[in-house]
Amino acid sequence: MQTLIAGNWKMNGTKSSLEEIDQIVRGLDTATTETVEALICPPVIWLTDCVARCAGSSLKIGAQDCHEAEKGAHTGDISASMLHEAGASHVIIGHSERRQDHFETDPLIARKAKAAFTAGLIPIICIGESLKDRQAGKANTVVLSQLAASLPQMAPDAPFIIAYEPIWAIGTGLTPTLFEIQDMHAGIRAALSAQYGQRGAHIPLLYGGSMKPDNAADILGLEDINGGLIGGASLKARDFLAIYAEAA
Ligand code: PGA
Repeated sequence: MQTLIAGNWKMNGTKSSLEEIDQIVRGLDTATTETVEALICPPVIWLTDCVARCAGSSLKIGAQDCHEAEKGAHTGDISASMLHEAGASHVIIGHSERRQDHFETDPLIARKAKAAFTAGLIPIICIGESLKDRQAGKANTVVLSQLAASLPQMAPDAPFIIAYEPIWAIGTGLTPTLFEIQDMHAGIRAALSAQYGQRGAHIPLLYGGSMKPDNAADILGLEDINGGLIGGASLKARDFLAIYAEAA
């Protein structure tokens, strides 16, 4: 399975930040390997610019959200097929910031994920516990129940990715211990294998939450980790490429 190093720019970046995309493209020219894929999910306003800048490069461009419907009266929203047409390959679904800011629920996330792969995008479905859940010893239960309820009904071979992102680790500089990360990923892997059989072993699992150049090697080296979803450290080409290099 390929390792995926995915950057989530969130609501950050001006037009001049697209120079970072050019730098990543140049960096990947020399660093690209068969085994590691690189993806950046910029604000959707910059999607087509980013896709144009990546022409001929191995860097993929994704989106941070999509609507569950294919089209219609949904002012301000964007459908998965529009993102696909604009050149996106992946879309992040159910990030904790969307669950919080936009009250997104597991069933909505499952419907969005279905819309994504119907449109030909690979959904990156995010799950993760709050600090309160972790302190109460409920992290595994919460995450596994989110997983079960956020998975879409889908064609048997439709590709999708799961990102485990403990909410309290996002943007805080805190991370779970390596043991806690591996333990959670092993639980997610077991649940996917129980549901999908053989295929469950091949669904990529990303870790997200304060992944940086200096902790990436340890985290990416864990058994059930197939990549990272990186926020803050993906905004600078130098940091993103340093994490990519740790995965390569
Ligand atoms: P962070 O964000 O790397 O800044 O913690 C990760 C994410 O929210 O995807």
